Amino acid sequence: MTSYRIALIPGDGIGAEVLPPAQAVLAAVGKRHGIEFRYDSFDWSCERYLAEGAMMPSDGLDRIRRHDAILLGAVGWPGVPDHVSLWGLLIPIRRGFRQYVNLRPVKVLDGVPSPLRGAGDVDLVVVRENVEGEYSEIGGRLGRGTEDELAVQEAVFTRKGVTRVVEYACELAKTRRNHVTSATKSNGIVHTMPFWDEVVEEVAGRHPDVRTGKEHIDALAAKLVLAPERFDVIVGSNLFGDILSDLAAAMAGSIGVAPAANLNPEREFPSMFEPVHGSAPDIAGQGKANPLGALWSAAMMLDHLGHPEAGEDLLAAAFGALADGVRTVDLGGTADTAGYTQAVLDRVG
Ligand code: NAI
Ligand code: MG
Repeated sequence: MTSYRIALIPGDGIGAEVLPPAQAVLAAVGKRHGIEFRYDSFDWSCERYLAEGAMMPSDGLDRIRRHDAILLGAVGWPGVPDHVSLWGLLIPIRRGFRQYVNLRPVKVLDGVPSPLRGAGDVDLVVVRENVEGEYSEIGGRLGRGTEDELAVQEAVFTRKGVTRVVEYACELAKTRRNHVTSATKSNGIVHTMPFWDEVVEEVAGRHPDVRTGKEHIDALAAKLVLAPERFDVIVGSNLFGDILSDLAAAMAGSIGVAPAANLNPEREFPSMFEPVHGSAPDIAGQGKANPLGALWSAAMMLDHLGHPEAGEDLLAAAFGALADGVRTVDLGGTADTAGYTQAVLDRVG
C-alpha cells in the first residue's frame, strides 16, 4: 500500500461541495490500485479572511510544504475583493512552491454538448506560465481620482521562466500528438513578446521531432473557435494562458467539468490540483454543483504522483457516468452532486 498525505483546502462556496466527492472517488480508485490517501484539512478561505484578516496564516506555506500534493476547491466570495482572495492564497502557493506550469486539458466529452457545432474532436491542453508574466506586482497608480490619474503595470518575462514552461510543453507534446502552438502578440507588444518568441524558437530547436508554430493571441482565439481540432498543446504566458483556457473550457460545454494542475515539475514542492471553476455563490449550498472538475483534477493528481493507470480508471468512471446520461444540472441533467458522485463510484467498483 502506497500512502500519500494530501493538504485539503476546500476554500469557499462550492469548493467545499466538490472536494468530498473527489475524496470518495480517490478512496475507491485507490483501493483497487493499492494507494491510500490521508488528508489534513485547512480552513483557508474568505470566511477566514473576514474573521481573522488573512486568507491563510503567515506560516501557511510551511504548514503544507511537506505534503505530497494540495487539493483545492475554490476561493472567492462576495464581500471580499477577488484580488484579495487570489493574492492572499492562490498566488502565494503557486509562486512560493514554484508551480510554474498551469496545465488545463480540454476535451469535448460524450454526453456534454459543446456550444460549438462540430467540436466533437477537441482534445487539447493549455500550458499556462503560472508564476511570472503579466501578473506582476510591479507598477503603481498616481493622482488617484484626478483628471491626470494614471496606472502603470509592468510585465516580467525571464529567460529561465519562459524556457522551462516551453520545455514542459514540448515534452508534453511528445506524449500526445507532437504539436505545440505558442500564443504570442509580438506585433503589438514589442519588448516582452518578441523575447517570448525568441526563447520559444530556441527551445523548439532542441525538439526537432515536435511540430511548433506560433499564433497571435487574437487570431488564435478565432481559430480555436473555428477549428479547435487543429490544436494539441498550446503554450502561453500567464495572461494569455488564463484567457485561452477559459475559452477552451467553455467550448467543452461547462466550466464545471474543467480541471487544472499547478505543477512544480522538479518536485521540490507539492503541486496543487484544483477545478477551474470558482466558488459559484449563485448555486452554493444547494447540493447541485458538478464535481467533475474536481474529480478530473484528482485524476491529474494521481498521474502526477506516478499512478497514471489509476487516473485513467477514475476518468473512465467519471466520463462513463456522463455517457450513460447521469448529468448534473449545469450539463442539462437532473442529477445532484451526490447522485452523480454515486454513479461514478458505482462504475469504479
Ligand atoms: P464561477 O466559476 O464560480 O461561476 C460561474 C458560473 O458557472 C456560475 O453560474 C456558476 O453557478 C457556474 N458553475 C461554476 N462551477 C460550477 C460547477 N462545478 N457546477 C455547476 N455550475 C458551476 O465564477 P464567478 O461567478 O465568476 O466567480 C465566483 C467567485 O469565485 C469569485 O469570487 C471569483 O473570484 C472566484 N473564482 C475563483 C477561482 C479559483 O478558485 N480558482 C476561479 C474563478 C473564480
Ligand atoms: Mg481564469
